[in-house]
Amino acid sequence: MADVDRYRPEDRRHVDALYRRVFGIDAADAHRLRWDWQYKLNPDMPADGPLIWLAREGQTVVGHYASMPVRLQVKGREIDAAWGTDVMVAPERQRQGLGELLFRTWDREVGAALGLGLSASSSQLFTKLRWHNVGPVPCMVKPLTRRALRRPEWSVGANRLLSALTLPWIRLVARSRPLQGEVRTIRQFDARFDAFWTRVSSAFGMVVKRNAAYLNWKYIQAPHVRYTVAVLERDGELSGYIVYRHLQEPRGKVTLVVDWLTPPDDQAAFLTLLRWVDRESRAADSDKIRIYATHAGYRKALRQSGYFAVKSTMEFVAKINAIDVPSAFYASTDMWHVTLGDSDQDR
Ligand SMILES: CC(C)(COP(=O)(O)OP(=O)(O)OC[C@H]1O[C@@H](n2cnc3c(N)ncnc32)[C@H](O)[C@@H]1OP(=O)(O)O)[C@@H](O)C(=O)NCCC(=O)NCCS
Repeated sequence: MADVDRYRPEDRRHVDALYRRVFGIDAADAHRLRWDWQYKLNPDMPADGPLIWLAREGQTVVGHYASMPVRLQVKGREIDAAWGTDVMVAPERQRQGLGELLFRTWDREVGAALGLGLSASSSQLFTKLRWHNVGPVPCMVKPLTRRALRRPEWSVGANRLLSALTLPWIRLVARSRPLQGEVRTIRQFDARFDAFWTRVSSAFGMVVKRNAAYLNWKYIQAPHVRYTVAVLERDGELSGYIVYRHLQEPRGKVTLVVDWLTPPDDQAAFLTLLRWVDRESRAADSDKIRIYATHAGYRKALRQSGYFAVKSTMEFVAKINAIDVPSAFYASTDMWHVTLGDSDQDR
């Protein structure tokens, strides 16, 4: 039977090799590029090193469970939590209980265990462990051009007809609207964001702590992806921020809204930041904007801004250990703030 213990620096080579076997060469290269940032530079990394567990058989690493520690605010209390990130078991050792052993170790060691964007096999494992599946995280899309609605499985004629019918609506939702306040881009989150977090965070039932240290690590220092951060100020006071990036997908150009924070009852603040992103997306020639949002207040503003719901595949599980929560806590995520920027989903 395998032993499970914490990762040590001399394990790095073995972990790389296992990653290559389970996820392939390209994913392993990307993992290496992210590794120092993701595991060593995380401001919430414990003093005794990265929160990674390995399953070993003698000298051989046969399983790996990496997690991303964060501080989590749950019903007004701050606790330690960790997103499960890179989990893998050697192909010849799968379906023999090692995954379950690793998942249970992680769960035992953290104040709250959180999982986002699950694979089919890990999703099955969470079901077997009877964890609360609180997902998927709702996904919404705003079309900016006719290309956004094109269906690859339809004929050219049918797509042309769809384009002609939807053009007036797309022009209406994609039109430019005024900003209420001053929006500008920044390259660093300063101490004002700590005060902003303190002011805003109690409005959420559950949310990862978004202080300046976390935001700089997550959105300024990430080595594998480049984000733009825009902030809204009204009368010189910080009213919110939004993080986004543009990318080319096989079916067109997309702007991804990755993270944001505004007081959820301040619809005008979020709408203004969304309007800023509209402008930036048009300037970048994007066909659509995509966003993931659990909070009902944010989703209401998104609908007002021309977004509509599409099928989401971003599964989400959560288990709070450090404090007692009733099972009703997991029944609705309408007051939680979880989005694409959480965990390591945007890679
Ligand atoms: C996910 C993973 C770590 C699970 O490890 P494992 O050692 O195979 O898991 P276990 O043997 O403890 O399996 C426990 C349960 O998980 C589920 N499960 C595991 N692999 C599965 C698969 N390929 N298909 C469907 N369900 C699966 C089953 O419910 C299984 O219970 P059962 O064997 O009684 O049916 C492993 O399958 C893996 O490395 N997968 C490839 C990488 C991956 O998908 N990582 C997750 C990224 S989110």
